[in-house]
Amino acid sequence: MPKDKIMFSAPVETIIRSRSSWRSYLEKPLGKDLVEKIQDYLKHIKKGPFGTILRFYLLKDPNIDREQKIKLGTYGTIKGAQYFVIGAYTMAGTAEPDTKNLDFGYAFEKIILFLTDTKLGTCWLGGTFNKRSFSQLAGLTGNQIIAAVTPIGYVAQKRSFKGRVIRWFIKAKHRKPWNELFYLEDFAAPLPAGASKKYAQALEMLRLAPSASNRQPWRVVMRGRNQFHFYLQRSRAYQAQNKLLKACDLQMMDMGIALCHFELTVRELGLNGRWKHADPGLPELPPYTEYCISWLGG
Ligand SMILES: Cc1cc2nc3c(=O)[nH]c(=O)nc-3n(C[C@H](O)[C@H](O)[C@H](O)COP(=O)(O)O)c2cc1C
Repeated sequence: MPKDKIMFSAPVETIIRSRSSWRSYLEKPLGKDLVEKIQDYLKHIKKGPFGTILRFYLLKDPNIDREQKIKLGTYGTIKGAQYFVIGAYTMAGTAEPDTKNLDFGYAFEKIILFLTDTKLGTCWLGGTFNKRSFSQLAGLTGNQIIAAVTPIGYVAQKRSFKGRVIRWFIKAKHRKPWNELFYLEDFAAPLPAGASKKYAQALEMLRLAPSASNRQPWRVVMRGRNQFHFYLQRSRAYQAQNKLLKACDLQMMDMGIALCHFELTVRELGLNGRWKHADPGLPELPPYTEYCISWLGG
């Protein structure tokens, strides 16, 4: 995996804990240096950890006005944002759709954390934006597909009424407890407190990850001292959508986000390991649950 050119300025736990989705922004331009720093960071992320070719763009719309906002098509969910980061897959390469979405989730979340570290607000948008408008505005070529975007900017002092309603509706602050997410050996027994030892912080950081509609579809089975098997437990609400939009599987992106939080924390703790397809072949999986990838500590 390519090493980061720019490291975070704060511990990854601090950044993860300080991130939350912002939907209202001050109409204040970003400084030239900051814009260059962001563009530089975006330029050097060209691939996900599993090899998918990805591209990220900073879109500044200097003529943002009422008409332009409609053109951007964030359907009224985002207020005041003057900049967006646009993330796209290219059609090049042979990665499977699942790998593409995993890679995209991982890489885009790293960008979100980088932006959080620079004290800017962000909000993953996988659904509530108009792909065609964003493609046009970013000048994407025909072989690039937008997977997600985020507004970026200085956050407004107070969340907008609409933003608060959205957060209340999807219980944005809430996260599932450990015993619903993490298991020991198989899905029969939750992971007891203390069993994960030096990996406890990495699992906690995973638990705090954002996810589409805050569904938190990640499940992890710990086996032995340092093997972690990651499963995606799909929500029924997303089944139909995934069939329609196979290219952009938001719940597989959620999984990529979880891998990102887990790995960044593990690495910061100085623990070694790698991602590997090492399905333990558990005899019984909960409904709608599929194996994705394993972290093999070493
Ligand atoms: C893959 C993905 C897609 C998302 N799509 C949208 C979206 O289209 N519109 C929106 O308002 N929020 C979207 N969100 C933001 C989530 O609703 C938010 O992350 C979640 O409710 C948790 O809240 P938090 O980010 O403040 O911790 C998305 C998040 C993820 C990870």
